[in-house]
Amino acid sequence: MKKATKAFFLSLAIAGATILSGPARADGNLTVYCSVQEEWCQLMVNEFQKATGITVAMTRKSSGETYAQVKAESANPKGDVWWGGTGDPHLQAAEEGLTEAYDSPMLAKLHPWAVKQHETAQKRTVGIYLGALGYGYNTDLLEQKKLEAPKCWADLIKPEFKGEVQVANPNSSGTAYTFIATLVQIMGEDEAFKYLKALGENINQYTKSGAAPAQAAARGETLVGIAFQHDIVTPTITSNAPIKNVSPCEGTGFEIGSMSIVKGAPNMDSARKWYDWALTPEAQKLAAQANSYQNPSNMEAPIPEQAPKMADIKLIDYDFAKFGSSAERKRLLGRWDKEIGAK
Ligand code: F6P
Repeated sequence: MKKATKAFFLSLAIAGATILSGPARADGNLTVYCSVQEEWCQLMVNEFQKATGITVAMTRKSSGETYAQVKAESANPKGDVWWGGTGDPHLQAAEEGLTEAYDSPMLAKLHPWAVKQHETAQKRTVGIYLGALGYGYNTDLLEQKKLEAPKCWADLIKPEFKGEVQVANPNSSGTAYTFIATLVQIMGEDEAFKYLKALGENINQYTKSGAAPAQAAARGETLVGIAFQHDIVTPTITSNAPIKNVSPCEGTGFEIGSMSIVKGAPNMDSARKWYDWALTPEAQKLAAQANSYQNPSNMEAPIPEQAPKMADIKLIDYDFAKFGSSAERKRLLGRWDKEIGAK
């Protein structure tokens, strides 16, 4: 072989070897819309990239915001997978045809509540974790202000809690929508809105993200933060924060955190790979590593020992089909805007 030809074949072989063994294998792309805590989103992305070689672009936004983004982009979809966030907006997206039906081979490994979510959504979403709503209070502030520890939802509208309570805005936050739906199911709708109005007197801020009030209570910026109980546990683990978790005495609602594939996803194969992988015990175990303590949907994934014990919480029989329906979610948010948010 001539010298020049030899050099040509040699350079081809080197290029081939680089492609096969290089750290970034050209195995495709994926855009993930993530609606859990940033740390968990990042860890999932990193581990998925390592496992598959697929390059992931990730954006983190709250559940209601992501629903709105998927809807706004529906004529020209940019995202592939919407991973995490409360189930209600995922169900709404399913009903509105914004997401794709998919039967993962992993379905057989999931708890019945996760499979039921898939059935309710005509296969357009699936349960990935479970978490109960509650609130946390800062024990140092409570002592300073010489207040009695709150135990019930009813306690939060007492005059002594004026300006002391934080919760998210239900338009952006799935947590806050779960809160409204929970009150409606416990009290009936008109009573729930009376309660929300009275609570409004005690609210110091409606935040964008659902977990923010728990973090603010942990830092002592608000006495009480209404949030999912696992989000109240996190700062006790990460910073030994003086925050106590309350399961309200009247009972409480819960979320089925969900995952959906965007209708017309530009990277459909990669989206299905993420979906299947995210339902494995290995992927679901990553939550606790990222200080997220929900109950995982894969029956073989261990429940983190720090996770609030669902069996000890007085849970209501949350009607996901009703409160995740497009008409009901729109109507309740509209009523909240008019009677509470616009105030
Ligand atoms: O990751 C924490 C978490 O509470 C999830 O369990 C939940 O699905 C999500 O955040 C809700 O966030 P938001 O209320 O901001 O939509």
